[in-house]
Amino acid sequence: MSEVRRVGMLTGGGDAPGLNGVIRAVTTRCTGEYGYEVVGIKRGWKGLLAPEEDSVVKLGVEDVRYILQEGGTILLSSRTNPYKNEGEAKKVVENMERFGIDALVAIGGDDTLGVARRLHEDFGVRVVGCPKTIDNDLSATDTTFGYDTAVSIATEAIDRIRTTAKSHERIIVVEVMGRHAGWITYGAGLASGANVTLIPEVEVDMDAVADLFKKRAERGEKWGIVAVSEGVTLGEEYITQDVERDEFGHVRLGGIAETLAKELKQRTGIDTRHVVLGHLQRGGTPTAYDRILSTRYGLRAAEAVKNGEWGKMVALRGNDVVTVSLEEATSETRTVPEDLQQVLSTFFG
Ligand code: F6P
Repeated sequence: MSEVRRVGMLTGGGDAPGLNGVIRAVTTRCTGEYGYEVVGIKRGWKGLLAPEEDSVVKLGVEDVRYILQEGGTILLSSRTNPYKNEGEAKKVVENMERFGIDALVAIGGDDTLGVARRLHEDFGVRVVGCPKTIDNDLSATDTTFGYDTAVSIATEAIDRIRTTAKSHERIIVVEVMGRHAGWITYGAGLASGANVTLIPEVEVDMDAVADLFKKRAERGEKWGIVAVSEGVTLGEEYITQDVERDEFGHVRLGGIAETLAKELKQRTGIDTRHVVLGHLQRGGTPTAYDRILSTRYGLRAAEAVKNGEWGKMVALRGNDVVTVSLEEATSETRTVPEDLQQVLSTFFG
C-alpha cells in the first residue's frame, strides 16, 4: 500500500460546536509533526461525490489558527449520502484518487460514519472517523463533542423561560432536539430543574403530567416548565414538520411541544405556551469542555492516520481517547439508559 502523503478531511451531517476544534487539531498535528499535506473537503460527502470548484482546499496552520472558538464548520456540511443511489459510492473513491487523497478523516455522526465504514469495507478506503453530534447518540463512545454545548444552551434557555412562565402563571413547553435519543432533553431538563422532562425512551403518561400541574396550581403554583424531546410521541406516530425524508431516510421531527401545550391547556385550564429551541442549540461558540474534547479527538485522529488505524473511530472511554471500530461505533443508536430515566422521574414535580 502506498505511503500516506495527503490527508483529506470532511464534516458531514448536522453541524455541532467543536467541529472546528477537530479540524484545527488534525491540521496542526498532521502538517506539523507528521509532515503530511492536509486538504479540507467542503460540504461533507458531496465534496467528493459531486465536486465543485471550491470543494477541495489546502489547509495549513494559518487557516485554522483562530477557529477553535468558532461554532459551525469552516468546511461546511451536507447530508449527502453516496450510498443512496447505486454506483455513486465508487465516484467518491475515484474522486479521492483524482485529488490525490491517500487517507480520510471523516467527522460526523452515525450517517457520515456509516458511509465511512462502508467505503472502508467495500473499497478499502483508508479512513478514520471522529464522532460528532449534539444528540450524543453514538454507541462506542462515552460522549460526543457538541453535546455539552447543546445542553448548556438548552439549560440557559429553560432558565430564562422559567421567569416569564412564573410571572404570567403559564405552563411553557420547551421542545429540545435530539431525534430519537433523549440525551439533550435529559441533560437540560435535569440541569434546569424542569418540572417535567419527557424523552422518547419513556412513554408519556399524559394523565400524570396533567395531574401534576393541577396539584401545583392548587398549592398556588399555577405555572411550570415541560422539557420535551422532539422525538417524543403521544401515540404511534412521530410528529413531523413535513413528509419528506433526507438522503439517509430521516424525517424532520418537530411539533410535539405545540401539541402538548394544547393538550395541557385543555386538561388543566392553565394558560400554556410552547417554544421550539431548534437550531439555537447547534449554533455558536462551543463550551470549554467541547473545545477540549474536540481537540483531543482531532489529535488522536491524526495519530490514528499515522498508525494506519483504518476503519476506526476515535472515542472517549473514561478519561482516555482511544480508537474503536467504525462497525461498533455505528451499530446502534445509544439512548438514555434506564437508571438515568429513573433520575428524571425522581424530579417530576
Ligand atoms: O442530528 C442533529 C440534529 O440537530 C437533530 O437533533 C435534529 O433532529 C436534526 O439534526 C435537525 O436537522 P436539520 O438541521 O437538517 O433540520
